[in-house]
Amino acid sequence: MSDDPVVAIAGVTGAVGAEFIATMDRRGFRVGKLKALASARSAGKRLSFRGQDIVIEELTADSFEGVDIALFSAGSGISKKFAPLAVKAGAVVVDNSSAFRMDPNVPLVIPEINAGRIRDHKGIIANPNCAAITALVPLWPIHKQNRIKRLIISTYQAASGAGAAAMEELVESTRAHLRGEVYPPKVMPHTYAFNLFSHNTAIDPETGYNDEETKVIKETRKIFEDEKIAVGVTCVRVPVLRAHSEAITFECEKPISETRVRNILAGARGVRLVDDRTGNYFPMPTDASGQDDVLVGRIRQDLSDPTGHSVSMFVAADQLLKGAALNAVQIAELLPQRAMA
Ligand SMILES: NC(=O)c1ccc[n+]([C@@H]2O[C@H](COP(=O)([O-])OP(=O)(O)OC[C@H]3O[C@@H](n4cnc5c(N)ncnc54)[C@H](OP(=O)(O)O)[C@@H]3O)[C@@H](O)[C@H]2O)c1
Repeated sequence: MSDDPVVAIAGVTGAVGAEFIATMDRRGFRVGKLKALASARSAGKRLSFRGQDIVIEELTADSFEGVDIALFSAGSGISKKFAPLAVKAGAVVVDNSSAFRMDPNVPLVIPEINAGRIRDHKGIIANPNCAAITALVPLWPIHKQNRIKRLIISTYQAASGAGAAAMEELVESTRAHLRGEVYPPKVMPHTYAFNLFSHNTAIDPETGYNDEETKVIKETRKIFEDEKIAVGVTCVRVPVLRAHSEAITFECEKPISETRVRNILAGARGVRLVDDRTGNYFPMPTDASGQDDVLVGRIRQDLSDPTGHSVSMFVAADQLLKGAALNAVQIAELLPQRAMA
């Protein structure tokens, strides 16, 4: 692969697409040529990348001729249709959708955890679910020291996780609410302003788990390469514009103290401790937004487990960055022969 690869972004006009551009720029990711791809609705619009005026093209079967790296964030249907065509044309695909995550031939990568898996790719590398990334970055260094055998996660997921239109719906429905007007939901299934609701993905009628929860469970096992880890998840959409938060309780095989957890996390890659009991200052989505780390705090012994094997904590991360664009660009940086500027 060239040191100055041709990079295509499929879904460039979306919430994640915009962050691909910004993340590549600020990390000095070398780009020979950028192909900006979206739907026919956006074809002909323009964007700016490193001072260059780039015309957005409609994504078609022919879009990937000469492309070295294709970053996909246009939904799983688009990935299923076009990612194999991009691979056929010679590109390596880093896919943000759920289309290929559980495919045994596709590495599912969080660079802080399993960067080595990138070598196994056969053209497509999958970026994990954003709620999974947010939990797993801080859990991995603990799991490595003292295996986590059981995990319970409750999420507080922002509008940005559902894309640009959902963010707009949160803003517009809040404005309408403050004016005393009714705002019929268009993107989300329920009233979003001053409300929260169970995650807006389909529910499995048998298990009662929604798709987002099932993704977190399955992806945790694949990324940790631990089929036995017991995971319970409740995913909830909250009226926060950007950055997901999660309450996490985990039980380890051996006893573990909150001090030990704090010490492990103090040196962990991609993690920043925000754990000020005196000031009652802990991870918040407003602090997590626009930065790269998973913020971790409220680290405390789980008092419901008198055996001392369990610890609880609260985390927040910008899921448009570490949960999507940043993680994907980090993967692209690790592709063979890639070099940073
Ligand atoms: N948001 C997150 O935090 C997050 C995190 C991880 C993964 N993801 C995944 O990333 C993907 C995009 O998410 P998003 O939040 O960025 O959504 P979004 O803001 O709704 O953006 C969707 C993008 O897909 C493009 N698109 C839609 N239909 C298309 C078509 N037929 N052909 C070509 N492009 C098409 C849109 O282009 P137009 O503007 O032209 O319609 C837009 O660029 C999804 O698969 C999502 O699951 C999102």
